[in-house]
Amino acid sequence: MCRAVREQAWAARTPQGPLVVTHSDVNELLRYPEEQMVEMDIVTMLRPETDEDLSSPALQDWLAALRLFMGPDSQHVRLRKLCSTLFRPSVIDGWRPLMRDVAERLARDFRPAGRCGFVTQFANLYPAHVFARIIGLPDEEVPAFARWSGDIGLTFVRPLAPVRERAEAAIVGLFGYVEDLIERRRCEPRDDLISRFLEIEQEGGMSAAEVRGLGLALIQAGHETTKSQLSFSVWGLTRHPAVWGRLAAEPECALNIVNELMRLHPIIPEPGRQPAEDLVYRQVRIRAGTPLFLSAAAANRDPEVFEEPDRFDPDRANSAKQLGFGAGPHYCLGASLARAEMAEALPVLAQTMPNVRLLEFREVEGQHTIRRAEALRLEFDPA
Ligand code: HEM
Repeated sequence: MCRAVREQAWAARTPQGPLVVTHSDVNELLRYPEEQMVEMDIVTMLRPETDEDLSSPALQDWLAALRLFMGPDSQHVRLRKLCSTLFRPSVIDGWRPLMRDVAERLARDFRPAGRCGFVTQFANLYPAHVFARIIGLPDEEVPAFARWSGDIGLTFVRPLAPVRERAEAAIVGLFGYVEDLIERRRCEPRDDLISRFLEIEQEGGMSAAEVRGLGLALIQAGHETTKSQLSFSVWGLTRHPAVWGRLAAEPECALNIVNELMRLHPIIPEPGRQPAEDLVYRQVRIRAGTPLFLSAAAANRDPEVFEEPDRFDPDRANSAKQLGFGAGPHYCLGASLARAEMAEALPVLAQTMPNVRLLEFREVEGQHTIRRAEALRLEFDPA
């Protein structure tokens, strides 16, 4: 549908609002200054077309944590600046040996069997273990934390009713966990993210509520996304055995392959925006508050930018122009971390699962905010 629209226009009308489909327009609108273009309100984003009840205390608590990064006020700019120093590439590079170590440890567990349930045995645990170390959780607490963090992602599932209880229990569980961790680090600071947040709080740079909300928002942002992107990427690679073999032999080619996989399978397909004031864009008047869906998925296959856009090309020279991490004022804060995690994991997986074959892939239906892989069953030549 997006391809047909893109051949005739830069946007399509949809019942929820305009869907922007060309690379240049998606890129430009994502980069608008925050005073003119705000992130789509989370409730509008979660389900524009139905009246889901999001009024329970747990869901409200969760939405408030997500809104910490939604601007357009000084709070977003201030918190983003504080956090971005903690996620800059030079800091992330220091975590690469840990990433490889975690990937190897998890892969060792399923290697002898010659088959695995990739989502549960790897994708769910790997980013959780890496992030646990960054924020300062002990290894033995990771399984509970990974379960809650995964279940919080259910808040994006529509209809919500069948999974509401699980999602709310996860919010309460994870907030309780983060509060407990904060108290532990107050008494006994360490070299980790929560201790650093507490230092900033003491210096007057953050409120206690922000430390709590950010702790939870970052855990979820850093877990669910990487878990899904990794699952969609490995699923994509099962159709390219030669590239899988190359990843095993030449780990240094992984970074470009990660970008190319994100180009073809972005798990946040259409970030949302709303003009803060009436706006004239390309001679079209867009009223303040109009929900705009900026299709990274369509932009990433725009032939004006990417030659033969539907072809997977591990050596594509401009794959870094993909918009799977967004762009502009809300560009993914964890992009360096996520890219490094995937670039470290894929070669380990290719070495552990030679001649990988797809047995089953299932995507969770009804998710348009973040795509979620429900099952990815693989078999391979055992060790
Ligand atoms: C492959 C994994 C990931 C993908 C595909 C992804 C994707 C995105 C995208 C598309 C946005 C922008 C949304 C918009 O413009 O509305 C975003 C924002 C964000 N991401 Fe990621 N992300 C990933 C991993 C991470 C990780 C590991 C963290 C951990 C810290 C993280 C933290 C954030 C935060 C805090 C924001 C909000 C930034 C802001 O509004 O200033 N993400 N992410």
